[in-house]
Amino acid sequence: MRILVLNGPNLNLLGKREPEIYGTATYNDLRKLIIDYSLKQNHIIHLIQSNHEGVLIDTLQGGINKYDGIVFNPGAFTHTSIALYDTLLAINIPCVEVHLSDIENREAFRQTNYIKKACIASVTNEGIEGYIKAIKILEKRLK
Ligand code: DQA
Repeated sequence: MRILVLNGPNLNLLGKREPEIYGTATYNDLRKLIIDYSLKQNHIIHLIQSNHEGVLIDTLQGGINKYDGIVFNPGAFTHTSIALYDTLLAINIPCVEVHLSDIENREAFRQTNYIKKACIASVTNEGIEGYIKAIKILEKRLK
């Protein structure tokens, strides 16, 4: 399977950023976890992180005919970005949304989620292991 794992703003700061909420694993730890798993499964994985909404949109658009599935943590854009929602609908590639934290039980402003409706599933509150769970959801969907 060809999979894009896309991370949005501030996820490059994993490990340093509010570790009591997002855990102590770093972005490099996350990369290693995903690469190790994907090698075993023979997946082709592209890992991309950007703090810029336009770069995330361009990356998703560039995924047409390139990826079979997408694992996406849009960070705070989850709660604000109709543009990312529109992009996911436009490209029509199965996408699983991931959040390290329990967004449903945090601040009220995190209850708005524009991304969920464009995804085949959501994985929340499972830390970096949630990304592996998301890849497994894609495996089941795409086999
Ligand atoms: C997050 C949750 C978002 O609300 C937050 O803005 C993030 C990270 C998560 O992984 O739990 O940046 O997507």
